[in-house]
Amino acid sequence: MTVSPDFSDWMTEQRAAMEQFLDQQLPAPNVAPTRLHEAMRHAALGGGKRIRALLALAAGELVGAPRARLLCVAGSLELIHTYSLIHDDLPCLDNDVLRRGKPTCHIQFGEATALLAGDALQSLAFQWLSEESEPRFQASQISLIHLLAVASGSRGMAGGQAIDLESTTTPLPLPELEIMHLKKTGALIRAAILMGAHCGPTPLEAADLQQLTHFANRVGLLFQIVDDILDATMDTSTLGKTAGKDEAHQKATYVTLLGLGPARQRAKELEQEALFTLARLPLATRRLEDLTRFMNARHH
Ligand code: IPE
Ligand code: IPE
Ligand code: MG
Ligand code: MG
Ligand code: MG
Repeated sequence: MTVSPDFSDWMTEQRAAMEQFLDQQLPAPNVAPTRLHEAMRHAALGGGKRIRALLALAAGELVGAPRARLLCVAGSLELIHTYSLIHDDLPCLDNDVLRRGKPTCHIQFGEATALLAGDALQSLAFQWLSEESEPRFQASQISLIHLLAVASGSRGMAGGQAIDLESTTTPLPLPELEIMHLKKTGALIRAAILMGAHCGPTPLEAADLQQLTHFANRVGLLFQIVDDILDATMDTSTLGKTAGKDEAHQKATYVTLLGLGPARQRAKELEQEALFTLARLPLATRRLEDLTRFMNARHH
């Protein structure tokens, strides 16, 4: 089976909707403090594959979630992701100058403003999630906030980044590399899928939620392994970020630990496992299947 013929159009439409939502909802660049708001907009707008947003939108479609609610959730995920990228690029972490084909936030605005832009995007994500006003959704609203908080904190993304940092001085065995990936990238991807699935009018059956969680963990790991493969195999202009930096910074990745062939093999296995898990769900999972294939086949 291959990707649905309308997948590319669907993806283009959803990305445009996400861009418009973020453009309208982020503080305007002429609102004080203008430099901070410009920095937030520089990082959040005009680029990015919007994978986390797409996953949330696709998972939300499974459960008949209202569009406005899904866009808010997808937007909040993109804010957390953007904040993580701004901080990841800072000189004290990966020290990168290029992101999404543009200068990184600290190159454009200075380190202090970039740090604050990351902080403010993180807060704004939770502000948006807490602004839900429909009474019928208030019970699941707290679950959404909790899912995002856990995924981005020390047991999720920030924790994974801490392990990443340590791994440059202490070699990581493979099982710990997998744990690092599941936290630093997998946690937010998993949250995207589960948050989308929590936006429907009724909760998912426990067994279905368990399957979806397993799927989410597999694609979360898949996504970072592919990121590592692309870092080692693609050029800077295709990636829109500096290529070859994992090896240069002696990062622990599937490629540096196992080599390219086994890393690609592992990605293929994870894709198959994820698709197999989706096939067991009694829901219309076509978009999630398409996204799974896209996550492995992408070139940037
Ligand atoms: C890059 O994420 C950082 C990782 C967590 C691997 P993406 O590849 O999703 O970055 P954008 O949003 O498309 O730029
Ligand atoms: C970044 O991983 C993960 C987070 C931002 C949480 P990488 O450091 O591999 O991401 P890139 O390659 O800079 O996008
Ligand atoms: Mg990093
Ligand atoms: Mg990085
Ligand atoms: Mg990378």
